[in-house]
Amino acid sequence: MKFDFDRIIDRRNTRSMKWDCRERTQLEPDVIPMWVADMDFPAPPAVVEAVTRRAEHGIYGYPIGSRSFSTAVADWLKSRHGWDVKKGWVTKSPGVVPSLCLCLNAFTSPGDGVVIQTPVYHPFYHVIDHNDRRLVRNPLKFESGRYVMDFDGLERTIDRGTRMLILCSPHNPVGRVWTPDELKRLGALCAAGDLIVISDEIHAELVFKGHRHVPLASLSEDLARRTVTLHAPSKTFNVAGLETSFAVIPDPEKKKLFDRQVRNASLSMGNIFGPIALEAAYTQGADWLDELLIYLEGNLDLLERFLIERVPRIRLIRPEGTYLALMDCRAMGMDQSELNAFFLRKARVYFNEGPMFGQELQGHVRINFGCPRPLLEEALLRIERAVNSL
Ligand SMILES: Cc1ncc(COP(=O)(O)O)c(C=O)c1O
Repeated sequence: MKFDFDRIIDRRNTRSMKWDCRERTQLEPDVIPMWVADMDFPAPPAVVEAVTRRAEHGIYGYPIGSRSFSTAVADWLKSRHGWDVKKGWVTKSPGVVPSLCLCLNAFTSPGDGVVIQTPVYHPFYHVIDHNDRRLVRNPLKFESGRYVMDFDGLERTIDRGTRMLILCSPHNPVGRVWTPDELKRLGALCAAGDLIVISDEIHAELVFKGHRHVPLASLSEDLARRTVTLHAPSKTFNVAGLETSFAVIPDPEKKKLFDRQVRNASLSMGNIFGPIALEAAYTQGADWLDELLIYLEGNLDLLERFLIERVPRIRLIRPEGTYLALMDCRAMGMDQSELNAFFLRKARVYFNEGPMFGQELQGHVRINFGCPRPLLEEALLRIERAVNSL
């Protein structure tokens, strides 16, 4: 391996949400935090060098956009996902979640129904609620050890008041990498109900062997027209703190409406480092990413094997992508608050609790295994000791 993912770097006192959040793990300083979706690895060297070079300049005045941003995006989407994207379809934005809000305001009105497939990344609920749209849940189904979309439910759910569906692809937290067949079926139902689809593809590159991410909008002309794809290098290259993302919108009318929201909220400028990081990542980060994926899959194999062999009361729902995984802890016989307290106070590891992604996940937690393996090994030993002492 060319890159050293085993190295543990102390992130405490770096204003890290994961490591420095007082309300959560800071009260228990020896706890290993395995929540929130960022990784404990430095970004690729090319990214660190590009940002450092700019930082060393010392003058951080107002930035100006560059065409190289959309060129880097379009070239990346073509080389990594085989998707032909025109540079004119790309709009820079300050984050995928803020862009979800912009999409709600651009394409729907207060009271309109917006469908999400639960359990799902919790801000999906919040943006719909906070913007006075109507939350329409179409829960995923758990079948043969994995989550699948409920197409019959979706057909029943879509009515005249439903305007939009927000897709999470790959899906956080259930870890599914949707197949082209699943996406086409979903697309056909969205077309029948004339829904606009916002496809959050922020985890697109974090996909394990045997699976392939397919951008929804690449599947047909109709899907290209009705889809706004939201994406960012944040998860893939661990640069979430630089708050830089983008939307890909092939339909000119929709692009105009989205761009107007960006302009009206004065969000077009952004920060100076984000686009520099994005361009370095997308033009020079592919080798690093290929090694990262092998390392993450190694972590996942370790996690799965360890639980099966040594902590069988916790069942891993093996993800096909992302560095997040659900652990079904119902066999431990605790309610959710007991479970959270158990992991924090007895095992001294901290996870996201399942129900924050949907009530379906009572008795589950979400582990973030995007960390150096020695840290994961230590966390697993702590879990084993604590569970076996019950
Ligand atoms: C599915 C999904 N979308 C969006 C985000 C966050 O995106 P951003 O930081 O660009 O708002 C996350 C972070 O965990 C995520 O998992």
